[in-house]
Amino acid sequence: MYVMGIDTSCDDTCVAIIRDGTEISSNVVSSQVDVHKEWGGVVPELASRSHAEAMNAILDVALQKSGLGFSNIDGVAVTFGPGLPGALRVGINAASAIALALNKPLIGVNHVEAHIFVNLLVDPDLKPPFLALVISGGHTELVYVSEWGDYRVVGRTRDDACGEAYDKVAKLIGLGYPGGPIIDELAHRGNQGAIEFPHAKMKDRGLDFSFSGIKTAVLNYVKKKRKETGDQNWPGQEPDKADLAASFQRAMVNMLIENTVRAARESNTKRLVLGGGVASNRGLRENLDELKEHLGIEIHIPPPELCTDNAAMVAELGWWRFSGQQYKLSPISVLELKAYPNLSLDAK
Ligand code: KG4
Ligand code: ZN
Repeated sequence: MYVMGIDTSCDDTCVAIIRDGTEISSNVVSSQVDVHKEWGGVVPELASRSHAEAMNAILDVALQKSGLGFSNIDGVAVTFGPGLPGALRVGINAASAIALALNKPLIGVNHVEAHIFVNLLVDPDLKPPFLALVISGGHTELVYVSEWGDYRVVGRTRDDACGEAYDKVAKLIGLGYPGGPIIDELAHRGNQGAIEFPHAKMKDRGLDFSFSGIKTAVLNYVKKKRKETGDQNWPGQEPDKADLAASFQRAMVNMLIENTVRAARESNTKRLVLGGGVASNRGLRENLDELKEHLGIEIHIPPPELCTDNAAMVAELGWWRFSGQQYKLSPISVLELKAYPNLSLDAK
């Protein structure tokens, strides 16, 4: 069974085709970074327009790379939320048109759920129960997965998403967009003990995250240094730039790991599954490796290209549903599929 996946929830136009839920026939991601970088973040109107302009070409590339034609496609899965409303609609319209023309089933999938499901594509033997940490530019969620499709969000961010904090800090120190990968790269050349940034201390926060405090701490530190040195571009050069990146990264990784370990203990889980762009962070991956050894936790992290937004994850979730595993849903009529910009994981 070939399932085509489409994702246009944010700033990447993604089309993928997977076979039988285990093999990627093609996985094409067209980034809009060049469109948004001069604004230092995603501009929703530009995102929708760019998706619309790119969609036909990306569909062609995905088919060409897979060596398939539209007639080989058995079903179409598309992200219908959460995401930017206009951007989501471009993907939904394309998917609906294809499904209608081919007379094949169409299904709308949750983007955050797809970030979790991509782990099943990587390891077909993966089984719940497990704890999932989804960390990206728009999401920071700790989710207890008792069965595929059965989710309990046990922790979420109270302010910025984790990747958003990376992007904002990068913008603040003039590093470019998206900031996550740039900070990660710089951090590996810096001294992570150079600056002590505070970890979020909220009363009654349970397993929730907060990243606005560290963002402000970095801002205040940079202001102080600029005043002290009289250099308005501080930290313009290395080692300052790398030390700041490494110290920020250490604090971020510590916060993520601290809550995750607590959640794993509280839910008595020995299996951890990651997803989302920030899960490709090298610092986090190295720390998780240690955790695996110390706590005896089984950890599943997709390869970096399947952590960041892609449509293989959408096709995988679509395949799971089409093949009738657990979700005994009848395929959704093409005319019914709408965008749900605030779709949440525990209210599907
Ligand atoms: O999953 P994703 O591609 O899109 C969303 O669903 O948001 O995640 C993008 C986010 C951006 O904020 C980006 O800066 C961050 O993931 N990111 C990283 C790394 N690679 C991407 N953050 C930290 N370290 C990385 N290596
Ligand atoms: Zn995402």
